[in-house]
Amino acid sequence: EVIHHHKFVIKSSSYTRLCSTKNILTVNGKFPGPTLKAHTGDTLIINVHNQANHNITIHWHGVRQVRNPWSDGAAYITQCPIQPGAVFKQVIHLSQEEGTVWWHGHDGWSRATVHGAFIIYPKHGQNYPFPKPHAEIPIILGEWWKKEIMSIPIVANKTGGEPIPSDAYTINGQPGYLYPCSKKDTFKMVVEYGKTYLLRMINAVMEEEIFFAIGKHKLRVVAIDGFYVKPIETDYIMITPGQTMDILLEANQPPAHHYSMSMHSYSSAFGAGFDNTTATGLVIYHGFKNVRKSPIGRPLPPHNRTEAATEFTKQFRSLVSKDNPIKVPKKVDTHLLFTISVNLLNCTSAKPCKGPFGKRFASSVNNISLVLPNTDFLSAYYKKIPGVFVMDFPRKPEREFNYTADKLPDYVLGTDFGSKVLVLEYNASVEVVLQGTNVLVGDNHPVHFHGYSFYVVGWGFGNFDPKKDPKKYNLVDPPQETTVGVPKNGWVAIRFRADNPGVWFVHCHLERHASWGMGVVLLVKDGPSPHTKILPPPLDLPKC
Ligand code: C2O
Ligand code: CU
Repeated sequence: EVIHHHKFVIKSSSYTRLCSTKNILTVNGKFPGPTLKAHTGDTLIINVHNQANHNITIHWHGVRQVRNPWSDGAAYITQCPIQPGAVFKQVIHLSQEEGTVWWHGHDGWSRATVHGAFIIYPKHGQNYPFPKPHAEIPIILGEWWKKEIMSIPIVANKTGGEPIPSDAYTINGQPGYLYPCSKKDTFKMVVEYGKTYLLRMINAVMEEEIFFAIGKHKLRVVAIDGFYVKPIETDYIMITPGQTMDILLEANQPPAHHYSMSMHSYSSAFGAGFDNTTATGLVIYHGFKNVRKSPIGRPLPPHNRTEAATEFTKQFRSLVSKDNPIKVPKKVDTHLLFTISVNLLNCTSAKPCKGPFGKRFASSVNNISLVLPNTDFLSAYYKKIPGVFVMDFPRKPEREFNYTADKLPDYVLGTDFGSKVLVLEYNASVEVVLQGTNVLVGDNHPVHFHGYSFYVVGWGFGNFDPKKDPKKYNLVDPPQETTVGVPKNGWVAIRFRADNPGVWFVHCHLERHASWGMGVVLLVKDGPSPHTKILPPPLDLPKC
């Protein structure tokens, strides 16, 4: 067994972008943070030292952490934050993961700058289901704020107001040459003509789905969220926050030119999108000079082009093979329906706030807005601490309504607050219908599961129809994912087997929605035999 040891030092470091300098939270002084590399079957031991003056946790996004939720890193879900000056040793065993996953801060808005790639090569001695690329390059899509990022959660949580939008999108930490005062802060990828490269793409953006393209070059998508798919040839991709994609890029265009990589938002909520900026990087052929003045780009779909987003997304199919059989549950014993809403509540003297029209935003699943307790759910469960949570999270919305209608009754605007968990039996075969709603405003919601991957067996616009829609499910080669984009005013059906005991966070990966309470805590019971029970807590587990 191979064991990798790493030291992550969380500290404040000075960075300059868009001609302004500020301190940001980093790991080992790097932005984006260090890339982790390992093989399926390996174990990583990571000592996280908090040398900043903020609480922090680190989450390994896309790693299942089988029986070991203690190292999952979701603040107040599976651990208390690592306090300034403290150290926490996290253990990651890669039992079955392969492909691109990532890691990020998971307390408040820390993940804006505390994030990095996590590359998992096939098991020692095994190959990719495609020819070995010449080189592999992480491409992290992110954002830059001129303001202090850690002040944003205060705005979002306490007043429920709209958080401050970023000042630039970034590709590997660089806004690129189109932003003012940013010419030299452009990510450059140097390629050799005729070679093929594997882009390890990660959407680390806080708030927006993203369109991405490269001038003239085709993209060949071969995996999503660390699961191989039947290759998709495309001119552009749409990737939601939290998702990863493995993309083959063949350097086969006239080499005496520069080509731009570009990204901008796909924002379905506000029509035209509220940010008209584009981040750029460059693809440059080694040994050639650009003969044109400017790089060759490719126009991205407009910000509000939902058709372009769904045209791309609907192509995903699992790459089924002998080594990679489909394990989608054919029979379901646990049916769940989650309605996902953005709500608007009255400010009261008991709950003062500073939102629009004297109201505040909240977000909910089945009209419950998640409140994080002062002790983490996992410790409270394991140590049987009373009064931290209740176990009655509803399996479907208490009131049915026409979820995606243009006009909705006023009462659906409201929501309850609570620390409720949803209990699942060990090994239950589960179907969850994630139903978007038009409460306040319809939006895409990239819903992410900790501790699990799932099969996306169906999706559509409007309301899910339990009679008709299941007949159209794909149970043959549905894509496997850990984050799925629920389309605006639409639904997605996913299936998985509850074979990983523990406490696991399910939430929208748009940070404002998550901080307004759009999340569910799953509690998967232990199984009967010793190797189906959660491991005991580590001795250095942070205390609240
Ligand atoms: Cu990438 Cu709970 O998140
Ligand atoms: Cu959301």
